[in-house]
Amino acid sequence: MASSPLDNLAEQTAQLLATVAALGSIDQLRDDEPMITGKRSFLSTLQKSLGVLAPEDRKDAGARLQEARRTVEAALEGRRDELTRAARLRQLEVDRMDLGDVVVGAVRWPATVGHPSLVAVTQRELEDVFVAMGFTVSEGPEVESDWYNFEALNIPPAHPARGMWDTFYVELGEPETVVLRTHTSPTQIHLMESAVARDSLPIHAVMPGRCYRRDTPDARHLAAFHQVEGLVVDHHIAFSDLAGVIETFTRAYFGPDIESRLRPAFFPFTEPSAEFEVTCTICRGEGCRTCSQTGWIELGGCGMLDPAVLDAVGIDGDEWSGFAFGFGIDRCAQMRHQIADMRALVENDARFLRQFS
Ligand code: DAH
Repeated sequence: MASSPLDNLAEQTAQLLATVAALGSIDQLRDDEPMITGKRSFLSTLQKSLGVLAPEDRKDAGARLQEARRTVEAALEGRRDELTRAARLRQLEVDRMDLGDVVVGAVRWPATVGHPSLVAVTQRELEDVFVAMGFTVSEGPEVESDWYNFEALNIPPAHPARGMWDTFYVELGEPETVVLRTHTSPTQIHLMESAVARDSLPIHAVMPGRCYRRDTPDARHLAAFHQVEGLVVDHHIAFSDLAGVIETFTRAYFGPDIESRLRPAFFPFTEPSAEFEVTCTICRGEGCRTCSQTGWIELGGCGMLDPAVLDAVGIDGDEWSGFAFGFGIDRCAQMRHQIADMRALVENDARFLRQFS
């Protein structure tokens, strides 16, 4: 029988299959593929040489060659799958985080534990001061209706005083009827309403909590901040009682070397109203960036309850009178600990936070 280009096809195919089985990586497979099934492979060379065969032998030879190619190609795809899967498993192994190792191996003993934030600590200290002065502590919701946050506080819709509070509105109900409270003053309204309902006047209460304003954060402002509200409703309450409470609080919380002052101001829910300021502890009154060169830091506002507010909750203004105040807890922390920029309270820099553990 005349020799044919396909004489060694079986051995050559077996050799190719062995080569495929020995491929060690996807990269190697990609490099060697042209020599196995591509243009540079002997399968392709044989294909071209079929022309030398007698026409009657060509068909049979072509079929055998096709068969060999299919076998090799199937083996190559199988190997490609195997290698891809193995590579993925290896990557998973590399990426895996062994938390057991981290926890058991890296933690020094005694382990570091967290601690309450400076704001939380300050809130508790402020509550303690007021509880010692005979106040109770209450809390109110952070999401309020327009009525509690504004109207009941003598700030009707479209009143220019609303400009004092840049408000975040919640998309609920009619537009601009539900707000993130801009101050803790609405809690006064809740407290007075429930005291009227339960016939439990007088009230001597403080109300701490988180508030929100569309303010650009700066050295003295955060968009989410904390206030403590104070409310006294009793018989024969005078402005001197308010001034006495503010002065007693300032000395108890800041110590004897911090001065406080009340300056005339306007708030719709109090009449007369005052602003409550303390000496800037960053510059000791000299003037600095934190206090905008004034030497004073405004902590909040206060005043005698406006008759319109008592009316709104159904308290008889002929029988009862009272005062209210509201000031910033974050500001108190800032002044007590001489923090030049309030944003440090929320930036989560561990070097800052560790100082207050
Ligand atoms: N709610 C005021 C504010 O956030 C502060 C304030 C002023 C509260 C006078 C009062 C008050 O209770 O009587 O700007």
